[in-house]
Amino acid sequence: MKLLLVIALLWAATAQAFFWGVSNSAFQVEGSPKPSDWTEFIKKSGTIADGTNADKLSGFWKNYDKDFTYAQQTGMNTFRISIAWERIQPDAPSDTGSYTWDDEALAHYQKMVDSMRAHGLEPFINLHHYVLPKWLADEGGYLSEHFPEYFEKFSIYMVRHLKNVKFWITFNEPNAPTLQGYRTGAWPPGIKDDPESELQGNANIIRAHRRAYVAMKKFDPNLQISLAHHYRIFEPKSRFNPADVVMSSSANRIWNLNILDGFLTGGFTLWTPGAEIIREPKPIIHQNISKFLDFLGINYYGRYKIRALLKKPNVALEEGPNEKSDLGWEIHPEGFYEALKFCYKRYNLPIYVTENGLADSEDKLRSKFLIDHLQQMQKARDEGVDIRAYMHWSMTDNFEWSLGQKPRFGLIAIDYETGEYKPRKSLETYKYLIKKYGYK
Ligand code: FCB
Repeated sequence: MKLLLVIALLWAATAQAFFWGVSNSAFQVEGSPKPSDWTEFIKKSGTIADGTNADKLSGFWKNYDKDFTYAQQTGMNTFRISIAWERIQPDAPSDTGSYTWDDEALAHYQKMVDSMRAHGLEPFINLHHYVLPKWLADEGGYLSEHFPEYFEKFSIYMVRHLKNVKFWITFNEPNAPTLQGYRTGAWPPGIKDDPESELQGNANIIRAHRRAYVAMKKFDPNLQISLAHHYRIFEPKSRFNPADVVMSSSANRIWNLNILDGFLTGGFTLWTPGAEIIREPKPIIHQNISKFLDFLGINYYGRYKIRALLKKPNVALEEGPNEKSDLGWEIHPEGFYEALKFCYKRYNLPIYVTENGLADSEDKLRSKFLIDHLQQMQKARDEGVDIRAYMHWSMTDNFEWSLGQKPRFGLIAIDYETGEYKPRKSLETYKYLIKKYGYK
């Protein structure tokens, strides 16, 4: 009997509870942003579709307790936030190589983490979610030869000083800011059609992750570290058109596999039409490190249908036939199952869903979206995929980058005039679903 009790206690202590929660990011919710590439970009006319900015928003910087209280009441047990690098390190390192850190900003994030813990929420801390301190952007941002070193210093400062955090994400969607910054030009630095820089940026971000991972693990081998990759499903527009088939598989390799393989192994082969291939061999393994990810963070938003074109840019990305969100993004829950199955099979790492959601200002589609996506996730789990978290994007409405404040992704609506929080009915649906699926 005693033995059974000991076994049960041991099991309870080691068993991993399933994490239910939400994700947000500093720039998109905090308000009162410090100088960064994004604050500069927003100042230029015509960069943000609805002409809004990130000055006020939900005011998460001060109101975080409100979010955590709602999270707890909904039955959540995790919350993913990001750290504004520009708050922690507002100035460039000196010429002699000394770094200055803002201790007050750090203490503030510590209060956030403590509050999460007090609300029963496991903190997931994201170190980089698209935004660069202004001084770093001025030095060339992702293209600066010092970028990997700067990022490593920032990461190690954070893990040393921010206590009670086990789960860390180095980069959110690493290939998004380089695509948007150097190809579409929709995000800072606003450069168009420069695939060479896009690839150089990706390579530097992988190097930065690699260095940060090694330093962080050296500090504490128990930390769990990953990226949050935007996994997209690519399908040929017509399965009977060989050009569509080839282009779709190539898009998958460029967007999903090259980046994920690079983050996992530390070595990479990156290519994209119009740019030279960049190859870097797998680095020599450091201190028992055989890979550079402990789990896989997956953001899932949908699929693209790929149509090959005879003229440049060679492909068109089209939405599929299903119902669309306010942004015209197709809702495709089956793709979620497919993404989870594929990633687990290929990478054999536990999966934490770090984002999934939709813009739906009237909350007409969100409840069904949640029901259908969680059903697909459960199907994957029933078939043996080791999924350990689901974090919805997002708790509150937030600043959707170059699309501004108009898209509404929140389970809670924010009245940007008064600052009022108004829970949408889908928050209740999420509460019901968390209860239905439970924490195992
Ligand atoms: C993801 C981003 C997040 C938000 C959602 C809608 O790709 O990580 O910041 O913009 O899309």
